[in-house]
Formats: sequence, C-alpha cells, structure tokens
Amino acid sequence: MVSRRTVITSGLSVAAIGAVGYATWPKLDGYNEEVARQRRLLSADPERHDLLRMATLAANGHNTQPWKFRLNDNTVTIQPDFSRRTEVVDPDNHHLFISLGCAAENLNIAAQARGWNATPATKSTDIEVMLESAAPLETDLYQAIPLRQSTRSQYDGQPVSASDIALLKAATEQGGVSVLLLTEPKAREDILEFVVEGNSAQMDDPAFVAELRDWIRFTPDEALRSGDGLFAACSGNPVAPGWIAERLFGQFFKNDTENDKYSSHIRSSAGIAIFIGDQEDPDHWIKVGQSFQRFALQATVLGIRTAHINQPIEVPRLRGEFARWMNMPDARPDLIVRFGRAPALPMSLRRPIESVIV
Ligand SMILES: Cc1cc2nc3c(=O)[nH]c(=O)nc-3n(C[C@H](O)[C@H](O)[C@H](O)COP(=O)(O)O)c2cc1C
Repeated sequence: MVSRRTVITSGLSVAAIGAVGYATWPKLDGYNEEVARQRRLLSADPERHDLLRMATLAANGHNTQPWKFRLNDNTVTIQPDFSRRTEVVDPDNHHLFISLGCAAENLNIAAQARGWNATPATKSTDIEVMLESAAPLETDLYQAIPLRQSTRSQYDGQPVSASDIALLKAATEQGGVSVLLLTEPKAREDILEFVVEGNSAQMDDPAFVAELRDWIRFTPDEALRSGDGLFAACSGNPVAPGWIAERLFGQFFKNDTENDKYSSHIRSSAGIAIFIGDQEDPDHWIKVGQSFQRFALQATVLGIRTAHINQPIEVPRLRGEFARWMNMPDARPDLIVRFGRAPALPMSLRRPIESVIV
C-alpha cells in the first residue's frame, strides 16, 4: 500500500492538471477553488454536517446527487431524493440506491476517522446510520475520500500487480455482494463487445441522449451554478462556451466516436471489476454501493483510477446475456468498472450541504 504522502501528492496533481491543461480558456481558477473548498479533509472536531459533506463526495450516477440527509441526536438518515432520479437510464432506481450506498460508506469511513462508529442499516428505502462514540481511526481510505474520482480517459495499458489486486479485492468484501476482478485480455475484449453494443443502443435512443444532455454542464460557470451534473472537463471532453456547446455535443457525441473511445479506454485498462448483489432490491443495491465505494477508495490509495462501463447492465436486453457470459445466468450484474493508471482529470463538484439536509 502506498503511503498517505503519495495519496496527497496525487491530489496535488489534480490541481496542477487543472491549472496547466486549461490555462488558456476557460479559466478554471474559480472552479478549482470551489473544488478545493469542497474537498478539504475534516477538522479535528468537525460539525456533524461536515461529516455529511464527506458523504456527498461519493460516486453517484450522472452526479445527480440523489440524496437527502436528516440529522437527529445520534442518527443520520440518508433518504432517496426521487426528484433527482434518471428514469431513462435507471428505470427501477437501481443506480440511485447504489449511489446512496456509496454515500453511506463515505460517511462511515469519515465518521470513524473522527471517533464515531457509523454502521448503516437499510429501513425500506432509507438508510439509518447510528452514530456511536468510538476510538478515532483515520485510515488511508479516509484520506482518499476527496481524491477519488471517476477518470474517464485512456489508461497507461500497464498491468496492476497481484498484491494490488488482492488489496482491491479485499476492499470490496461485503455480505450480500460478490465481485469478479478480471484481468485477462480475452475478458476485456468480450466486455468491450457488450459495451459497444450497449452504447450503440443507448446512442440510438433519443430519450437516453436527452436525459444525458440534461445533466451535462458544458462550462465551469454552468457547473458552479448547479453544483451537480457531468462537467465536460471531468470526462476529458472539451469545455465550450454555451453558444457552441450544443454543436460540440452533436459533433463529439456520435456512435462511432463514442465506441472508438470505449475501445481505447477498455483496451488500455489493467482490468475490469463486476459487482453483483445477491438479490435485486434496494438493500442489496445499497450494499453494492458500499462495496464499490471502498473499492474506488482503495484504488485511489494505490494510485489506480476507476471508471464505469455500465452499458451492458443498463440496456435490459443485454443484461441477461451478460450474466450468462459471466457464467452466472441467474444473477443481476450491478456495476461494471474498469481500472488502471492514468493522470487525474478535473474533479467533479457537489451541491452545498445546506441544500441536501432536510
Ligand atoms: C451507480 C452508478 C452508476 C454510474 N454509471 C456511470 C456510467 O455509466 N458512466 C460513467 O461514465 N460514469 C458513471 N458513474 C460515475 C458517476 O458519473 C460519477 O460518480 C459522478 O459523475 C461523480 O463524479 P466522481 O465519481 O468523479 O466524483 C456511475 C456512478 C454510480 C455510483
């Protein structure tokens, strides 16, 4: 495992990339300042709402941040915000509940660092987290919370060592969830075929494209104003002023261009992780989120990047076929994530914590 120093250094490189790669237009100064403000570690004796800030730095589908938090004396309740669901790509709220699980895991790790046990329990569609005093435990995963990102770029094509794979696998361990870590080139090629087929189906679906378009933020100002969504630079895409954004979207977001991009992304990755809940219900999707969030944080600690390639599970007609390919015909694969090494991209933003506390 790399030292805390290495993790912090890789965090500095995030700011450096923002400063160097985008020095001309647009200026990301204000954007990066807000990123740094949102992504600071906790003070020694944090307010409880600052713990929630750490929870919101979790991965979540389309960065809609589909959560609300209720603070009581000794509990935090994480509730779904169905007004932020993405009904086309996620008709049964599968991604939404995984996102809540990711937030619960960040909350648990951050609370532990400041002397609370924060074990989550699912109550229907809510997650109830009881906060109990405990000895502070500041782990590498805690340090990685502000540094984790979805890195949607080409990776360096190098393998990840067996010892790193073992650490990644250990991080995913969670009752009710199985995880496959695949590193053989044949598996990558097979999955690429599913991704290309799924991506083509999604690109041919005007409702999917419209929903995605609604969550893209083309300029830093747009991203700063909403504090949510997919800022183009975070996906390695060009950042354009509003008036040419639409045209650029049409130009870059084409079936062939996207499929070529996925080919180079997947072929340059060291491996692919598949997360599978034992059952298809919110409780298990939340558990999948917890497992995935720890995986992504452990990867960050090791200097390994992650990015989702979920098309084979998002397109219903491919999901069963993909499960059969996995030799688990009765399973519902929940997440597909590639991993490998690459420089960081700009970090994503979150909404102010006041707007998610109810
Ligand atoms: C359940 C779930 C599904 C996701 N699906 C995709 C996806 O299909 N493609 C993608 O590029 N990112 C996907 N993501 C990543 C999110 O877009 C990302 O977490 C969000 O934009 C916040 O950015 P960050 O992870 O860099 O903090 C997914 C994340 C979650 C939790």
